[in-house]
Amino acid sequence: MAKINPRVLSGLPFTAPVLLAPMEGVTDPAFRDVVMTRHRPERLGGVFTEFVRVTSQAVPAAVIQRHLGARRSAMPVGVQLMGADVELVATSAATAAAAGAAVIDLNFGCPAKGALRGCAGSAVLDDPPRVSQLVGACVEAVDGRVPVTAKVRAGVDDADGVEEIARAVEAGGAAMLTVHCRTRAELYRDPVDWTRIRRAVGAVSIPVCGNGGVRVTGDIDRMQTETGCTFVMVGRAALGDPWIFSGEAVTSQDAARFLLEYAANLRGVRSGTIEGIAARLKQLLSYWTAGGLVTDADRSSWLRERDPAALVARLQVAADDEIEIS
Ligand SMILES: Cc1cc2nc3c(=O)[nH]c(=O)nc-3n(C[C@H](O)[C@H](O)[C@H](O)COP(=O)(O)O)c2cc1C
Repeated sequence: MAKINPRVLSGLPFTAPVLLAPMEGVTDPAFRDVVMTRHRPERLGGVFTEFVRVTSQAVPAAVIQRHLGARRSAMPVGVQLMGADVELVATSAATAAAAGAAVIDLNFGCPAKGALRGCAGSAVLDDPPRVSQLVGACVEAVDGRVPVTAKVRAGVDDADGVEEIARAVEAGGAAMLTVHCRTRAELYRDPVDWTRIRRAVGAVSIPVCGNGGVRVTGDIDRMQTETGCTFVMVGRAALGDPWIFSGEAVTSQDAARFLLEYAANLRGVRSGTIEGIAARLKQLLSYWTAGGLVTDADRSSWLRERDPAALVARLQVAADDEIEIS
């Protein structure tokens, strides 16, 4: 299992060197809560909100609170902000710190067109001084109450400047740098090149969190060994197997119960409609590998299910449990 040098934990709230990636449309409190109940803090070190966009005004406290959700676990929850206006992002960071965020993470990786138009997300990667400026303004705004971290891609069109990007994050005063090793142009494509993470590790003295292409539990150690990164962040593989952090082998019943609890949380926390919940379940089912609940042979039958109630009923049969959704 991945090891951490206790020294680098000072100043960072993470309880283990493996983190759940921020994922828009997935890592809301409804999903995170179920993941957190399945892990001890020695296995999963922290989680992040989906990105919270900072547009024409600073993010109000109520919005941050909604992303943080009710506090049900001791595990640290970082709030991720994405924006281009230095003052508005810094004010939002201060609000998030006051609202209980354990970490403020800045998104310099989102490849979406909306982010690029607003010069946020990965659009800022081409401008390292601006990266430093955004990080530095947040560090100043939170005034030591919580650490500020940054999540970058390895570059825009190529990864030639990954060291420069890493140094810009460090110069701004970030306490940790997460490197998603794909460039913006590569979107989410495989294969990944972890040497880019190693290059970032060599360029800075702050802890680096490697991200990109972890598929199975063994990849976590492998990424640490091959790159020298201190932390590893897992994205999509955790959507298919939320137990990936510990490598625990679960049954199809455990897997179905996870999904039903997620659905019940969505109903409660967001007053979700059964149709909306079914859509969110299908999003996970499209990745799902845990417990053999979904196989490549029957994945499409899960995804084609038109009747939301029938989808839930199918999960209830697999769970051997009547976890109530409505
Ligand atoms: C559905 C989805 C939503 C994502 N949303 C965010 C986000 O809100 N903030 C962010 O920094 N990255 C986001 N990402 C990128 C992931 O955090 C991660 O960097 C990426 O998936 C690579 O890791 P992986 O190969 O382990 O999946 C998202 C990825 C996916 C698949």
